[in-house]
Amino acid sequence: MSVGAAIRRVTPPDLVARKGGAPLVCLTAYTTPVARLVDAQCDVILVGDSVGMVLHGLPSTLGVTLDMMVLHGQAVMRGSDRALVVVDLPFGAYESGPEQAFEAAVRILRETGAGAVKLEGGAYMAPTIAFLVARGVPVMAHVGLTPQSVNVFGGYKVQGRGDDGDRIRADARAVADAGAFAVVLEKVPDGLASIITADLWVPTIGIGASADCDGQILVIDDMLGLFTDFRPRFVRRYAELGAAAAAAVAAYADDVRARRFPGPDHVFPDETGA
Ligand code: KIV
Repeated sequence: MSVGAAIRRVTPPDLVARKGGAPLVCLTAYTTPVARLVDAQCDVILVGDSVGMVLHGLPSTLGVTLDMMVLHGQAVMRGSDRALVVVDLPFGAYESGPEQAFEAAVRILRETGAGAVKLEGGAYMAPTIAFLVARGVPVMAHVGLTPQSVNVFGGYKVQGRGDDGDRIRADARAVADAGAFAVVLEKVPDGLASIITADLWVPTIGIGASADCDGQILVIDDMLGLFTDFRPRFVRRYAELGAAAAAAVAAYADDVRARRFPGPDHVFPDETGA
């Protein structure tokens, strides 16, 4: 068996080695074409359970299933060959104990070929993370605002203001101690994210956190202007693809209604007709 490959994917240890170095570029992707689009730029592609809200129209991430994560994980693996692909463990697939989490993680790694899983939760998840890592499953942790707990938080609110900062700091330490190779910090105050980043020997990846984090992740549909149900304040829109697509569909509808739909030999002036 040949072990050498022309292109090697980023690995969890590669990310740990980048701690404090050049910022980690991370984005979500859920489909093959989008994975192709982002692979060359990204260190990490996250197949997030945000897929439920962004692609499936669900009101939260709670309705996402393991089958959905496997399907989207497979699609993203087919569209990438460089970035580390991390797949979210969905709500209900890991919280009841380390064994349940291990079964779900094995299904994801085996059926998608992804390099790691991500799970939400702080200190109480540390035993599960240690169990997974000891059995060969690399884990990215996620603390602060953990969207699967939206009903406990009563909304998608900033976590860790004031005295509550100690709780988030302890959560981040606990998951890193347990063996997580990176920690997503979602919607925690700037100062706290900086302190946690300095505390940990593994990279922090911020989403609405601080520029002091070791990298940033955004939901791709948010930064491309494709998901417009709501717009987190911290998201910069790098394009307005939703508006551009709506205008294109309207132009198409105008053409069809005006019977401007040509035959097989027509070549539009700006196209080769290939
Ligand atoms: O599901 C997701 O997309 C995520 C990121 C927002 C971190 O967990």
